[in-house]
Amino acid sequence: MNSPRLVIALTKGRILEEVLPLLRQANIVPAEDIARSRKLIFDTNIENVQLMVIRGSDVPTYVEFGSADIGIVGKDLILEYGSEGFYEPLDLKIARCRMMTAEPVNAVPVQGRLKVATKFTNIAKRYYAEQGKQIELIKLSGALELAPAMGLADAIVDIVDTGNTLKANGLEPRDLIAEVSSRVIVNKASMKIKNGIIRDILGKLRRAVEANG
Ligand code: PRP
Repeated sequence: MNSPRLVIALTKGRILEEVLPLLRQANIVPAEDIARSRKLIFDTNIENVQLMVIRGSDVPTYVEFGSADIGIVGKDLILEYGSEGFYEPLDLKIARCRMMTAEPVNAVPVQGRLKVATKFTNIAKRYYAEQGKQIELIKLSGALELAPAMGLADAIVDIVDTGNTLKANGLEPRDLIAEVSSRVIVNKASMKIKNGIIRDILGKLRRAVEANG
């Protein structure tokens, strides 16, 4: 019997450079060079297993609705998506960083509502609500670190890796909201219907993660 078609959704951009070697270690290899192609879906060395390459924020959507069976995406985007519509069986321990609040160095406490700029509005809303703090959310698409200096916001919620971007813009990290790394997510129905191949892939990926320490 032919194995069922299985689609793995990958996050394009920086994560991909770390994910492809891990997939290779797990013996899942694209049939052509993803980095050099404008295609969005690729066959692999395994019959009926395909890789699609999309924006990270779309990976949870594809997996929840079953158009992709498996997804590889940052925990930040999983938290921002905020659904329990898929399983999250494996931490790949790559693309590690932290979701943090940050404020201008030596900022004095703000009277009244804190103005918070972020592209992670759901995460920020949840975090400050848990702290019992009233905030005014300002949604931006990028370059968040500029917002405090330009008087648009008192604080930001963003990804911090080395901390260099904060420092270069006169900001300092404050509260840790979440540790972030790339995770494997799996559609709930696929986990039942395609259990054999999914368990096989998860096992191989788990061994690759362990081998990398
Ligand atoms: C992220 C984040 C910060 C930067 C932090 O941006 O938004 O700007 O990395 O890294 P650092 O602590 O090492 O300086 P990214 O480059 O991923 O691009 P983005 O603006 O598209 O999120």
